[in-house]
Order: sequence, then structure tokens, then C-alpha cells
Amino acid sequence: MSVQTLDVKSSGPNEHGYRSFSLGEVTFSRDEYFVYVKWPTGRHVMSADAFLRSLQRDVAWEFFYGIVNFDGVIGTVNHYGTVDLFAGRYNDAYRKAELDHVENFPTPRIKGTFAAMLDDWTSATFDPFASPHETGTAFGPKAGSNTAAVTRRRVTAKRMVGVPGDEPLRSDATGHPINRHFLDVPQDEPTILAEPGFEGQVCAFSLFAYLSRSNVTWNPSVVSVCKNSLYCPTTEEYILPIIHGNDRVEWFVQLSDEIYWDVEDRDTGAVRAKVVMKPGDVAAMPADIRHQGYSPKRAMLLVWENGSPDIPALIASGKAPTNPVSF
Ligand code: PHB
Ligand code: FE
Repeated sequence: MSVQTLDVKSSGPNEHGYRSFSLGEVTFSRDEYFVYVKWPTGRHVMSADAFLRSLQRDVAWEFFYGIVNFDGVIGTVNHYGTVDLFAGRYNDAYRKAELDHVENFPTPRIKGTFAAMLDDWTSATFDPFASPHETGTAFGPKAGSNTAAVTRRRVTAKRMVGVPGDEPLRSDATGHPINRHFLDVPQDEPTILAEPGFEGQVCAFSLFAYLSRSNVTWNPSVVSVCKNSLYCPTTEEYILPIIHGNDRVEWFVQLSDEIYWDVEDRDTGAVRAKVVMKPGDVAAMPADIRHQGYSPKRAMLLVWENGSPDIPALIASGKAPTNPVSF
């Protein structure tokens, strides 16, 4: 099976077996270890595994909220309908030297190219969503493909996981064994004692048991929805592959273990904070930062998003603050 493509510009395979791709004036190619990105005023090299992990998330999350930096140089900005592909745009040195580059594409166009590149460049051994310990190598000449992994469906509950007709619970039977780092997490589900007349209308599930069976890392899934309030928990191990530039406030609740966050100015990359989050800690990440997390052992993190499409404009116009709380 191959990924459906839409107006994808690509070459035939190079001597390593990988196709090259272009979007506007930007070209992408890879060899056994590296990905090469070129634009009219510059060029950039990334490790193939880090690049594929970032690309996987950009594709699976439909370009996410705001900015997805693959590293300090290249990335995308989501305008919710169109997407900027940039090089050096959020890097002070590139900006000052006027070597940065931005091109805007309709979302289906860039998504089609990114999805085709992800599928072509991911060999059978590699799963970009898995922790490094739980996947084979991203390196070497092209050897097969892993389309099932790179096109896996993202969990997005309509109301809540476990509600009849909504996202199902996870179990051994659904192919979700308990992760090696969460073997101590209780697996019992809550008992529901509904008032007479409300039987069948009340639902509950154990979020800890659910997360203990996640087979992916750094991949927030929507487990409950109340209007624009989205609970997007995720299990984290190793490094968040992207540096996320927020276009709204995000709340983090550390449910287990520890994550270290590097917090930088969203536009220049200047360091703003180093945050250590321990179980029970809550952080409000401002709307004008970018951040990247490091998790030495698989950890459970609740990311709480306000999914309102009005927020970026409210913040840009100063009608909504960049900080959710002032102390
Ligand atoms: C974030 O950028 O806020 C983010 C992204 C992915 C995660 C956790 C946090 O897994
Ligand atoms: Fe973020």
C-alpha cells in the first residue's frame, strides 16, 4: 500500500533508494544518515531519525497549533487552511543575515508532500512515534516501508474515551499491552453508581490505565472534549521531536514521573526558562514561547488545550493575554 499523493513533486530514487521532494523553492533529500534541505539562500542538514520523528508529528497533527520547529532552523506555521514552510524564520542569526525563507502552501498540498516523504523515507525497521528503545533504526539505505505505522489513526474522542460509540478503551485484546515502564499502574476501572433515571448516561474510565497502554510517545490524543476544552494526555519518553511554538496558552499537568522543559522566546529562540516538572506539578506555558521536553523515563503528561479557532487572533490583537495567570 502506498500513501495517497496530491500534486507531489518528487524525483526517482537516488543511490540510497530514497526519492527527493520539492515544495516551491525548497528541496528535501536524504541519504543513509542525513536529510538535506535547500532553499535559495541556504542549506541545512538534520539527522534522518530526528527529521522523521518531527515530520511524523507535523503530518499526524495536521500542523498542530502554531509553529512546529523541526529544529532551530526549519519548520512550519499553521494558519489553519494554509501552512508556511520556513527556513531560519524563527532564528535570530538567519533573520539578521537575511538568509531566512518562507513559503505558504494550501494545507492539502504541503500535507500531501510531507506524507509522501514520510512514507518513502521510513524503512520497515523504523517507527517515528515509538521511543528509541522500542523501535529499530531509521538509518541505512531504503529497506521496505512502514506505512501502517506512519499512517496510524490519531485518537480524537468526540466526547470521551469509553463512551459507547466513541474511542474505545485499550486492552491486550486491542493490541495495547501495558508498557514496560508502567507495569505498576493499577488496571481496574471505576465502578459507576448512577442515580435512578441516569443509568446508561454516566461514563468513567481510568486515565492512568489507558495511558499505561499507549504504544506511542510525544503524541497528545484527545480523550475528552467539553466545548473547546480538550484534554490531550500523552506518554513521553526521550525527547519531544519538535520545538513547539505556541499560538495560545497550554496547561501541562504532570501525571507521573519527570519531564524537563527548555522554554525559549518563540520568535528568536532566546532562552527564557528551564522547567523541571515532577508528579502533580502544573505549568501554564505562555502563548509567546516555544518549548521542547526531555523525559528520561516514560512519563504521563496531561496537555490541556483551548481549541477555539478565535484564540490566535485574540492574542495577536492584544485582546487576550499571553500569560494565563499573573502572580
Ligand atoms: C506541546 O508542544 O505542547 C507538546 C507536544 C507534544 C507532547 C507534549 C507537549 O507530547
Ligand atoms: Fe506546546
